[in-house]
Amino acid sequence: MNESVSPALLPESRLAELVDALVDRGWYVGEGFLPETLHRPLFDELAEMARRDALEAAGIGRGTAHHLRRDIRGDAIRWLDRESLGQRRYLEAMGELQQALNQALFLGLFEYEAHFAQYPPGAFYRRHLDSFRGRANRVISTVGYLNPDWPLDAGGEMVIFAPHDPQREVARVRPEAGTFACFLSDSVPHEVLPTRRSRASIAGWFRRNASLGGMVDPAH
Ligand code: OGA
Ligand code: MN
Repeated sequence: MNESVSPALLPESRLAELVDALVDRGWYVGEGFLPETLHRPLFDELAEMARRDALEAAGIGRGTAHHLRRDIRGDAIRWLDRESLGQRRYLEAMGELQQALNQALFLGLFEYEAHFAQYPPGAFYRRHLDSFRGRANRVISTVGYLNPDWPLDAGGEMVIFAPHDPQREVARVRPEAGTFACFLSDSVPHEVLPTRRSRASIAGWFRRNASLGGMVDPAH
């Protein structure tokens, strides 16, 4: 039988560059990593969700520990649910990334969760880790940026700190459409500086399944 193979969404050379950086230093930032055909429809979709009031204030903590803390994070989110072609294509691209990561790192990742995030002017997200060793099962964090033509003076950069060293800044990421960041969830501290414009991104996590006290860890 002649199976049709859909063309790759992410170039192999960029995936290799990302994997090398993760192995060498625990984090990666690539400008122009996501093609416009991937990020543009998602930017439009998120803008439409915001207009429809379909986003919810983001909280911190999981399950019953989940609560709002505007002094820690001020974004509004919506989890990807595969309802649009844009979302399905983004998740397909993350599937390509997962394959590249698994081949190189034997991580055994098998699940990916992601949410749209919109930071209104004035919003930020204080320095944090995305998971805590031995507890959560988020292994690798991803952030895809969606705003075309982000002005230099608009703030909203994501600051990345050295693994296990929250005093040492190693990168400042402008949230420009197509830029993609990826890092180890339990060891790379990062924060979002206050933005002056509405800032659009998709934050996502590759997970290993883990149970907590006999309960399957809730997806979100
Ligand atoms: C997060 C996060 C960074 C960003 O949602 O956990 O750190 O640049 N996001 O949106
Ligand atoms: Mn984070």
